[in-house]
Amino acid sequence: MRNLRQLSNHFIRFFLLGLALTTFSPQTTWSAPGNQGQDKAVRHHGVNVSFATKAAECGTCHKRQYQEWRYAAGADLDNGGAGSYHAISATENMYQVMLNTVGPDMQNYCRGCHEPGNAWAVVDKIANIPEPREENVEEGVNCMTCHFDGMRIVGKDEVRDPIFCATCHNENTGLVDVYEAWSYDYPGDKTCQQCHMESGNHAFPGFHSASFRQKAVSVSAPVFSPAPSAGVQFDIDFSIINDGTGHSVPEDLFRVFRVKVSVLNSFNEQVYSYEKTFYKRNELFGENPAETEIVRSGEEKRISCSNIALGPGLYTLKIELSQDSNRVNALLNVNLPMNSIYKTFVVE
Ligand code: HEC
Ligand code: HEC
Ligand code: HEC
Ligand code: HEC
Ligand code: HEC
Repeated sequence: MRNLRQLSNHFIRFFLLGLALTTFSPQTTWSAPGNQGQDKAVRHHGVNVSFATKAAECGTCHKRQYQEWRYAAGADLDNGGAGSYHAISATENMYQVMLNTVGPDMQNYCRGCHEPGNAWAVVDKIANIPEPREENVEEGVNCMTCHFDGMRIVGKDEVRDPIFCATCHNENTGLVDVYEAWSYDYPGDKTCQQCHMESGNHAFPGFHSASFRQKAVSVSAPVFSPAPSAGVQFDIDFSIINDGTGHSVPEDLFRVFRVKVSVLNSFNEQVYSYEKTFYKRNELFGENPAETEIVRSGEEKRISCSNIALGPGLYTLKIELSQDSNRVNALLNVNLPMNSIYKTFVVE
């Protein structure tokens, strides 16, 4: 109970702060948030567009983008064709469950990112989020969220700027601060879009894509020292390197990144195991942020398994990386596989 209370106080504080800032920002004539431009006829290639325009209407001409966003056709997303996570951000079961456990103010806060109104109206994109939308809320983050500002269709040159993604992928609370991690830690030169929208793909693969989880963190070849021999203790050392993402692993406050090491004998019995976990600590859960252990973009972490002693035989070393989706609610949690290494060795 204490955690939930802290959580809501915290969220409400940021919700009010956000509201206060938007109230004083220059272009605020927001009486009905998200409705800007609705009564103005905004024309785009012969059709009227507004925040109420449905994705399927855009899809009549932009078939490919619509198919990718709506069905994530050809993408290896965990939801098997249910759509990009942007398209299901308002209808996803887990989101609905959580939304129904919080009060109306907090619901507005959640809806700001999951059922967003005018995203281009957000001035400080690093710290503030959109107002919730009132129309077509079931479409979540839809075409209009990224391509409409109330006055015109926003073209690809502008949406290619990573700062636009910060509108919802950063809010300075430690919950989702992806943009800042990318700005300060990432040693590479790719934008969010270059990794997450290869060839303009609108399926937006990420955590829920098996291939993205697979390439996120690499594992160096394990070193045995001294060479294993019966009755003599040895160590197994290796590194994990976050060289596949542009931000931290895990990046989301709710996730846990696990590095599991195990040794199996020739009967497939586990004779050694070691596990190291990485996750963000946050005051929301009564934790000390200074104790946070994550793998930042570009960072290499050394893992040492010491003093292993085995009898003669053939063994298999398994190094398995995975991520829990939700460390706060066990009922909602799933553990999803990432990169793994298997290696056989002999103890003489
Ligand atoms: C009647 C057909 C039609 C409909 C409906 C339509 N568009 Fe377009 N759109 C076009 C054409 C034609 C172009 C210019 C050629 C191109 O880039 O494909 C275009 C271009 C675009 C561009 C690229 C602009 C640029 O400068 O980068 C975006 C983004 C876009 N449309 C978004 C939308 C959205 C969002 C909707 C739904 C509100 C929509 N369109 C509905 C025909 C249409
Ligand atoms: C600042 C924008 C923002 C706000 C506000 C926000 N979310 Fe999210 N939410 C996200 C993003 C972005 C993700 C995708 C995961 C990530 O990047 O951390 C996400 C993911 C989720 C997920 C899916 C987790 C999974 O494992 O796939 C749920 C459920 C969820 N949010 C619920 C909520 C609820 C409930 C609230 C309000 C208390 C809320 N969110 C507020 C941006 C937001
Ligand atoms: C989360 C934000 C986001 C959403 C949602 C989104 N787009 Fe885009 N869209 C982009 C970005 C970013 C680009 C530029 C991609 C690139 O670099 O090629 C883009 C590019 C486009 C283009 C230009 C393609 C070209 O190469 O000329 C069209 C057309 C388009 N989107 C239509 C749509 C339609 C239709 C929908 C809804 C089904 C949609 N988008 C949903 C962010 C988004
Ligand atoms: C208006 C808010 C908003 C904007 C703008 C936005 N996103 Fe998202 N994005 C979300 C939310 C909310 C989720 C989580 C959906 C869920 O899981 O329920 C999400 C999820 C994602 C995911 C995770 C998919 C997965 O597999 O879990 C990726 C990747 C992503 N967004 C990339 C981008 C990029 C790149 C941009 C900029 C072009 C962008 N987003 C702009 C709100 C937004
Ligand atoms: C070098 C490629 C790369 C760049 C650059 C990059 N990402 Fe990612 N991103 C990934 C990979 C790989 C994953 C899967 C990581 C995992 O399994 O946790 C990911 C995961 C995500 C997720 C899902 C996090 C979660 O726990 O649900 C979101 C959201 C996201 N990225 C958004 C962004 C945004 C926004 C930017 C730019 C500020 C960005 N990414 C830059 C490769 C990249």
